Amino acid sequence: MSAGADVVIGPLEDGVVVLTLARPEARNALRHQTMIELADAIERLDADADARGIIIAGGQKAFAAGADIAEMAALDGPALLAHPRTLAWQRIWRAGCPLIAAVEGWALGGGCELVLSCDLAIAGAGARFGQPEITLGWMPGAGGTQRLARSAGKALTMQLVLTGDQIDAEAARAAGIVSEVVPSGTALSRARTLAQRIASHPRQATRLAKQAVLRAFETPLSEGLREEHASFRHLASSEERAARMATFLRG
Ligand code: CAA
Repeated sequence: MSAGADVVIGPLEDGVVVLTLARPEARNALRHQTMIELADAIERLDADADARGIIIAGGQKAFAAGADIAEMAALDGPALLAHPRTLAWQRIWRAGCPLIAAVEGWALGGGCELVLSCDLAIAGAGARFGQPEITLGWMPGAGGTQRLARSAGKALTMQLVLTGDQIDAEAARAAGIVSEVVPSGTALSRARTLAQRIASHPRQATRLAKQAVLRAFETPLSEGLREEHASFRHLASSEERAARMATFLRG
């Protein structure tokens, strides 16, 4: 296990690595260094053919309480444009490897946006989600308005973004922000089970399937269907597909 100052990188086990946000004293507020460590780790693991699933976890009290307000207060618009933290978000969004969030406690502001940046998310029953930026005279800036609207729809997104109020884990599940709610303290264990299952499937198929689902949020249906079929045809020629189908057919 290796430890950066803010993100602890777990060992590769059954194709899965857990990245743990490790600043509980600051409720895992996402300072610049945290974002850069996270992006560096994800980028490195994304290039590792043995890493098939990446879990992002926080602590029991907080997944992440948002961007570090002290640091963000010092940044104006021009400073944000090419800031390494802005680039760090983009680097995370480029990952081809499935990202799974294991959420306990608060996922607020940038913390909620980090959950939304993952491909799937599991919440402990006590998790809380919200976009409180408006209470600071700001607004979500790492995909919160866009990804939340695509998961939760307009009405709930407007409510969260414009009031800054929080919702609980069950409401987050109903809104499609997380796919499952599990007993408090067990989100990581459930995320690990799902990640190991994902990691047991061929890497190329997993990555193309992830990419195809994400395209649904960016393209008209006809274009998404065209791209889906292109990946489907591409995989039809893969050795792993041939091997897995032959194994099935042999019984
Ligand atoms: N940034 C910086 N420090 C933070 C922080 C944050 N987002 N969240 C918590 N902390 C710090 C607190 O300042 C406190 O530090 P000290 O011990 O040095 O005083 C420490 O973490 C513990 O915090 P609390 O005492 O408040 O802990 P709590 O358990 O009582 O409450 C909480 C937890 C509800 C998450 C509360 O800390 C809170 O409301 N945090 C701010 C949430 C927020 O507004 N997030 C949005 C940030 S802005 C953003 O994400 C995007 C953007 O920039 C536009």
